[in-house]
Amino acid sequence: MFYLWRRSQVPLKQPIKISRIDNLIIFLVCILISIISSYKQLLISPLNIAVIFSWLLTFTEILISSGILILVSKSENPTISSRQIFLIITLLLAAQSTKLAFASTISPLSIIIPPALIISQGMGSITALAWVSIASLSWPDPAIALNNNLFFILLVCSSVVSLLGGRIRSRAQLLQLSIFVPIGSFLSQWILIGKDKISPINKQDFVLTNGDITSDSFLLAIVMLFTILFIPIFESIFGLLTKARLLELADKEKPLIRRLSLEAPGTFEHTLLICGLAEEASRMIGGDIDLIKTGALYHDVGKLHAPNWFIENQDGSRNPHDELDDPIKSAKVLQAHVDEGLKFARKNRLPKLIANFIPEHQGTLKMGYFFQKAKEKNLDINECHFRYKGPIPQSKETAILMLADGCEAALRAMHINASDKEALETISNIIYSRQKDGQLDDSNLSKGEIFLIKRAFLNVWKRIRHRRIQYPTSKNNTFS
Ligand SMILES: [Fe+2]
Ligand SMILES: [Fe+2]
Repeated sequence: MFYLWRRSQVPLKQPIKISRIDNLIIFLVCILISIISSYKQLLISPLNIAVIFSWLLTFTEILISSGILILVSKSENPTISSRQIFLIITLLLAAQSTKLAFASTISPLSIIIPPALIISQGMGSITALAWVSIASLSWPDPAIALNNNLFFILLVCSSVVSLLGGRIRSRAQLLQLSIFVPIGSFLSQWILIGKDKISPINKQDFVLTNGDITSDSFLLAIVMLFTILFIPIFESIFGLLTKARLLELADKEKPLIRRLSLEAPGTFEHTLLICGLAEEASRMIGGDIDLIKTGALYHDVGKLHAPNWFIENQDGSRNPHDELDDPIKSAKVLQAHVDEGLKFARKNRLPKLIANFIPEHQGTLKMGYFFQKAKEKNLDINECHFRYKGPIPQSKETAILMLADGCEAALRAMHINASDKEALETISNIIYSRQKDGQLDDSNLSKGEIFLIKRAFLNVWKRIRHRRIQYPTSKNNTFS
């Protein structure tokens, strides 16, 4: 009872598995960051207990902050890999080393804002904000005192980049950000820092004598532009899945999707309808719409290995399964659409989060039709041979896709005059059967969310029904 109550209250997160060696490397890098960020305090002479104590305090503070940063990134991205954690702390190490070497010559804006952009794009805004707070608060060289106004500008600019970076949906918007942030930082530095020194009347003089504000902002723009250029490289090395990459993958002109539309048109139509169902459900529960849309597009690409073995691609004349007349072999063909799909994903370098949709949309569902056939033939066969290999959905998004996949054919087959109540009943029955089978156990979907998903599917069905209604047209009324 306690377990059920807890599940209904707080979504359970699957703990990520990081190997011991990776943990050790990450820990050692955190130690290195702490040493770099604090060792200069020990160089102050004379060395006494108070100095050592203050060094120890800074060292521990940085070490704990790095640990908190990793925890924040794990809680924002439950599926984060050790490579991605490594990227976050390596960027922190790079920022601290740059500060140590160039703090007096390079503006802190150019050191902190570009990494914040990479982290917000790849790992989300909250992780980026946590990174920014650590990177802007700890300065390795105690001799360098940051101007209060500059610190304020740094915090505002890097927070804006962190918040917007996580939402940006195209490379063009990234480009705009890399131009407007340096302009904004230039104006704010001019108002808050430059104004004290320069008479606002003599602007010409300002540009000449305070070249550092201009050149700092120019440098920031250049570093940000370079960061944008390198983001695709970070995506492939560290397996980052940015919004821009998701939308690129969702392009229907991508070769794999194009092949699906040409070689398996039935599966392609099924995929488009599922995209609609899954998108609406994801919007209702506040899930990641771009992720689910792209995942839905690729979920059945494995059917390309033998399109006509799947009912949606048969024109009604011939069913190869009837000719085969072997339920066990037919079940293997069905399982092959998952295995082949994963091969296609590897070949086309699909990100792991997208590839996960391929096995998880089928989970460990039973291939009921062929299992029934085997039973009719009195074959002595275990039920497990007629179940997909899984795993069951590990996220809300893949679970929604499984439910959409189950409901799609039933909703499409419903009579045009069927009532909303009948449609909702059909949806509820399908979802309940998946729930009872334990397919949603690892997905973290709450009862409330499942209720919302049912309503979302019903809304989409209403739209489809509306589309199928024939409008009366006449010779005189063909304009609308
Ligand atoms: Fe499938
Ligand atoms: Fe499907």
